Amino acid sequence: MKDKTVFICQGCGARYPKWMGRCSSCEEWNSLVEEIEEEAPSGGLVFAPTEPVLYQDVQNIPRQRIGVGIEDFNKVLGGGLVTGSVVLLGGEPGIGKSTLLLQVARDLAGGESTVLYVSGEESLEQIKLRGDRLGVRDGRLFLLAETNLERILAQAERLAPKIMVVDSIQTVFSAKMSSGPGTISQVREAANQIFRFAKTRQIPTFLVGHITKEGSLAGPKSLEHIVDVVLLFEGERDHSQRVLRAMKNRFGPVSELAVFEMTAAGLQPILNPSAFFLRERPREEAGSAVVCTLKGTRPLLAEIQALVSSTLFSGNPRRMTIGLDHYRTAMLLALVEKKAGYSFAGEDIYLNVAGGLSIDEPAADLGVVMAVVSSLKNMPLPGDWAFFGEVGLSGEIRSVSQPLVRIKEVQALGFGTVLLPAGNLASLDRKDLPGIECLGAKTVREALQRVF
Ligand code: TYD
Ligand code: MG
Repeated sequence: MKDKTVFICQGCGARYPKWMGRCSSCEEWNSLVEEIEEEAPSGGLVFAPTEPVLYQDVQNIPRQRIGVGIEDFNKVLGGGLVTGSVVLLGGEPGIGKSTLLLQVARDLAGGESTVLYVSGEESLEQIKLRGDRLGVRDGRLFLLAETNLERILAQAERLAPKIMVVDSIQTVFSAKMSSGPGTISQVREAANQIFRFAKTRQIPTFLVGHITKEGSLAGPKSLEHIVDVVLLFEGERDHSQRVLRAMKNRFGPVSELAVFEMTAAGLQPILNPSAFFLRERPREEAGSAVVCTLKGTRPLLAEIQALVSSTLFSGNPRRMTIGLDHYRTAMLLALVEKKAGYSFAGEDIYLNVAGGLSIDEPAADLGVVMAVVSSLKNMPLPGDWAFFGEVGLSGEIRSVSQPLVRIKEVQALGFGTVLLPAGNLASLDRKDLPGIECLGAKTVREALQRVF
């Protein structure tokens, strides 16, 4: 019998009988790859016959969790690694995924547990070189350079480690399937089999998944619904900080976040991210404003920097933003001109969030406005003020979520005054407020008058 072929989108897994230039499901260009139609060996899970159970008879089994050594990492996992769970760690190549998991392996193996680190990317020597940098000591850390799924599972079965790392899922392939390694069918099959292995043997497993800048996880995207937890590891190439957060967690909230600094000796947790991102802030310089944004449920102070300078050449003045939404910033500039009577005609405007952070929360609007006007007037903002508030198209300052959490963070970092939406201030009980001056503003014009 002739093998039937099928075209599968490597981005989302949609199947087509014929090749097309663009996947009509996820709209990715050039993502279809011809694969052989086959029944996945693990396809059609065999379930033992089950009976319906009365709701009130269902038992809640307390979950056993393993601490991974890094306290903030445990929080992101919802309180540690649940036994038998599968965690996908996604991130761009070079961001530090292997480093992070080797550190976890080091900490657990140092505590007498057996750890299996499978790598299909690097040789044992390369991993050891990295491990020496990270201070891996004698312990029960086993390395396995292997990409064949069946052999990996056989070794894991034999060793019965306390945790397993598979770096990366894209390199693993099942010899029972004819599709090429790295195709979506292979990646899915590997993830499915590892998932079942982890559950039956109660061995929690980390899967590394490479994703591209555009966030398409060639393959891993389609793994998101298979695994229990999806973590993202992000950062900018030319900055040392890295942010780890959960995108999905079957065993906990997805709101926690851990910040690390990549150093010569691996990733170091940054215990006070706000202080870290403000550490080089110039005091009393025009064009610098501190805002309090939320990342998940965690408040984070960031410095917004603006530079307004006369356009040298006639024609279109420049508008550049780094770390802020370009369109939103353009809207804010138009609004400041219209509602507060400033003119940016003939001015180039550059905006940046210090430290390589990016902010996508409208609560930073008020800080953007303050930084721009401060630079235009060449007048510094008071050094111990911080700002938050969303700005609407009529120049009104709108309430944002979690005002008290933000105010407390501002106070904890030693600021004396916070300017916030009047609506937020009115909703708060005075006696809950920490010892910091809170000023409310209803409009951009009023906010600017308060400061300048
Ligand atoms: P790596 O963990 O290999 O990234 P990934 O697995 O996500 O592809 O990290 C690679 C980068 O990290 C590399 O550019 C070197 C740097 N690095 C350090 O700066 N310090 C260290 O201690 C280690 C191990 C790596
Ligand atoms: Mg790696």
